[in-house]
Amino acid sequence: MTLTHEQLQRRVQQGLHVVGVTNSAPTLPILEVTNPLKASMTNTSDASFSTIDRLKGKVIETILPLLNLTSYNNLKRARLIANDYNIQATLLGAKLAQHDQKYNALYTTLTQQLREKEEIYSQKDAHSTQQLAELNHTIIELQSALASQKETLSQALQAAATELQEATTALQVSDVHRQITEENVKHLKERLDYLEWQNKTLLTMLRRYTTLATQTPSVDASSILMMIERVTEQLHDPATRANVRDSMLKYFQNDGDPNFSTVIELFEQADREQVPFWDIRTSARVLSNLIKPERYLEIGTRRGWSLAQVLIEAPQAQCYIFDMWVDKYADAQGSPTHVLEKMQQITGAEPRLVFINGNSHSTLPLFFQGKMGITPPESFDLITVDGDHSLLGAWEDLYDIFPKVRVGGAILFDDLDYAGEPYAGVSEYERDPMPSSVKTLRDVWHQFQARYPNFIFIDCFNLRFQAGIAIRMR
Ligand SMILES: C[S@@+](CC[C@H](N)C(=O)[O-])C[C@H]1O[C@@H](n2cnc3c(N)ncnc32)[C@H](O)[C@@H]1O
Repeated sequence: MTLTHEQLQRRVQQGLHVVGVTNSAPTLPILEVTNPLKASMTNTSDASFSTIDRLKGKVIETILPLLNLTSYNNLKRARLIANDYNIQATLLGAKLAQHDQKYNALYTTLTQQLREKEEIYSQKDAHSTQQLAELNHTIIELQSALASQKETLSQALQAAATELQEATTALQVSDVHRQITEENVKHLKERLDYLEWQNKTLLTMLRRYTTLATQTPSVDASSILMMIERVTEQLHDPATRANVRDSMLKYFQNDGDPNFSTVIELFEQADREQVPFWDIRTSARVLSNLIKPERYLEIGTRRGWSLAQVLIEAPQAQCYIFDMWVDKYADAQGSPTHVLEKMQQITGAEPRLVFINGNSHSTLPLFFQGKMGITPPESFDLITVDGDHSLLGAWEDLYDIFPKVRVGGAILFDDLDYAGEPYAGVSEYERDPMPSSVKTLRDVWHQFQARYPNFIFIDCFNLRFQAGIAIRMR
């Protein structure tokens, strides 16, 4: 690099290191020396550097005033001085090179140590990396195990939920079964009660039959007993109910009576639950089938449902109908015209009906006394009591008719399961007072069971509208 004089002067002023000067004028070739070690060793307190710097400083100090001189001699002198210092600097440079060598050796050693350390750390690093990889692997394995356990648990949870659902359903089903079983047990108990009662009744019947056979040999007691057996049999036969149901559907289905469906449903319930059940119509059908009544008396006919069953079995029967035709009784109006019309349909001819209209508590005594313009039969084959449903009203009707049934004939009484209603009038006829212990129509009925031991009583104990039958033995 060649500098102009001004450039050289400026650089010297800035303190640049000038280590070589040539004698060619007017420009001076100089060699710029940069020591790479200096930069890296500035922090060392090496005396060689300060010595070199001092020498250089002296060169500059010496050369600087000479540069201001213009004579060749001065320049020459300056060059000589510079040379001298340059030699010293070169010597020092050699020392410095030696120092460099040491330094380089140190550097190499340190670098070597560093490399070794690096190697160690690298190995450690590799080891750590391996450990890390192993850890990662373990983590992945754990995660996978966790995921699979999670899946297993989730499946188990799902299975448990399904099981719970099934168990809940099973519990509900078993609860329904339990209820049904309880119902069945209840029905079976009722049936058992009934059978026990029936057994008791049959024993009583047998006892009475024996007494009857010995005491009144003129009466055909065995035929009555046989009839009682057949009555019981038919009452328990669902086919009997089916016949009654069919005839009800045939003659009364579209008769405008709101109670019609209730009766049909009751029949269906009895079939479904298989319980012994007989209402007033079924009883009338059975007794009419076996007795074939010629003289029939009915208190309470309304629209003719029970009367119809009698006439289906005994169309020739002479019927005495006692009704006061209460306005819309149980939501349906009864009338003689309607009853006559219906019975004509059933018999296909003119039925033998006598209507005794009015309150039975008055008309019955008058009728039996022959004060109704009709000569009453001495006795009846069959009598139905289904009029006044008050306790006293039923008591009076039963009181009046019980003595009017022939031996081998029967009495029918409706609604044993009914608590009764208020008595709607005062009777002018004298009868025995009704015991105050009577609380239901069944109680009324049982009063007559006690009063008439010559009758066999067959009562219904199931469902609603339970009917009672009493057959006269002697
Ligand atoms: C339950 S209904 C009769 C039902 C009928 N046995 C049947 O099976 O369709 C009662 C009837 O008795 C009549 N009745 C109520 N109290 C009476 C009384 N003291 N004297 C006469 N009839 C009465 C009513 O007018 C009604 O027609």
